[in-house]
Amino acid sequence: MYWVLSLLLLLPYSINAIEGYKNYSGYQIFQLSPQTDKHLEYIGKLDEGLGFELDVLRAVNKIGSHSEVLVPPGKINHIIRSLTDNNITYEVAVDDVGAIVARERRALANPNPGTFDPFHYYSYEDQMKYLDFVASRRFSFVTQGIIGYSSERRPIKFLRIGFPSRQFKPSLVIEAGIHAREWIAPATALHTIHELTTDGVYENLLKTIDIYIIPNTNPDGYEYSRLHDRLWRKTRSGPRGPQRCFGTDGNRNFPYFYAFDGTSRDPCSDIFHGDGPLSEPEAAGLSRFLLAHKKTIRGFISLHSYGGNILYPWGHKKRTYPEDVRDLIWAGNRMAAAIEKVHGTKYKVENSADGLYPAAGATDDYAKSIGIKYTFTMELRPTDSETLAKRGFELPPQEIKGAAEEAFEGIVELAIIIRNE
Ligand code: ARG
Ligand code: ZN
Repeated sequence: MYWVLSLLLLLPYSINAIEGYKNYSGYQIFQLSPQTDKHLEYIGKLDEGLGFELDVLRAVNKIGSHSEVLVPPGKINHIIRSLTDNNITYEVAVDDVGAIVARERRALANPNPGTFDPFHYYSYEDQMKYLDFVASRRFSFVTQGIIGYSSERRPIKFLRIGFPSRQFKPSLVIEAGIHAREWIAPATALHTIHELTTDGVYENLLKTIDIYIIPNTNPDGYEYSRLHDRLWRKTRSGPRGPQRCFGTDGNRNFPYFYAFDGTSRDPCSDIFHGDGPLSEPEAAGLSRFLLAHKKTIRGFISLHSYGGNILYPWGHKKRTYPEDVRDLIWAGNRMAAAIEKVHGTKYKVENSADGLYPAAGATDDYAKSIGIKYTFTMELRPTDSETLAKRGFELPPQEIKGAAEEAFEGIVELAIIIRNE
């Protein structure tokens, strides 16, 4: 009897072992500091064009900011030579990614399903259990729904939080997790649900606005990142092409300047735009959801990491802005001020193409294009200045709480702005 039980308990781990886990042993993260336009141009081709085919963890297109790239052990000597030849200042930010991945894995304890624990990253299943718990406890104030199913048929759930009303209520949509490895994004979405449903001070606000939260838009990718490859970014559709590569960048799959700059037609690329607009069920689901609720939606925030930015459209091209861009900058600045008050963290309000890089077919541009006024992408912690110490996507679990608390104030600020209009 007991050995049957322990066998069952071991099962998830053995499945994991059979399918393999990418250990990243010997991989390094280089932080690059471009000082000229030539440097920027060079860094822009590290993923495609120079033959390095590196995973660019954070790209930038501004002199004075930093970019991080992941370098496999076999390419380290080559990249150092090339960076030196091109006079690019760099620093090895992480000298063994494998050590961090292993440490992080050891710290992955399962939280109590059904409760909210701000010190752990949840499995997809535990995230969903938490949604069920909240929805079942707060009947009519919280309703649960499904925007669609992922490629591997996982339900993509959302909660609507707000008191029923006979009057018109505007709404704000928070979407998180379209990029699998950005774990702090779903964690922040769960924290937001927790705060809104347990702290009475938000009740008044929620009588006049509804907040929709989709805490994990890419559950397949998220689970893949947890169980097989920590730095997985895309969905898990496929395989495609002669190399049988998996996944599409969900944030390149939307029909607004689809397949324009900052996307790739190569299915093996991390920014592969998919087979066509909305080819991914995850993107199609989100698009359907937004169109269905378009009449009430006044704001949309896509949660990502990392960098500490509040990004506004358009993102497909530099120096191209919507006509009401002043309103967005004004709202973005208010959000940044609300965030800074919490723990002093400074978010930069900037246009996504000017501040980071052009990237077409993203959720934010799409939301704006269908008429949602206040549309942003938030790049959560670590912020630019902390990146070296905090290791990019692998934000330590002790930092979830602080990161989520400050982002939450930014979200509430936008809800207040929308409600007051
Ligand atoms: N880090 C995000 C990405 O690469 C930024 C998206 C910003 N929005 C945009 N439309 N470019 O997908
Ligand atoms: Zn992202």
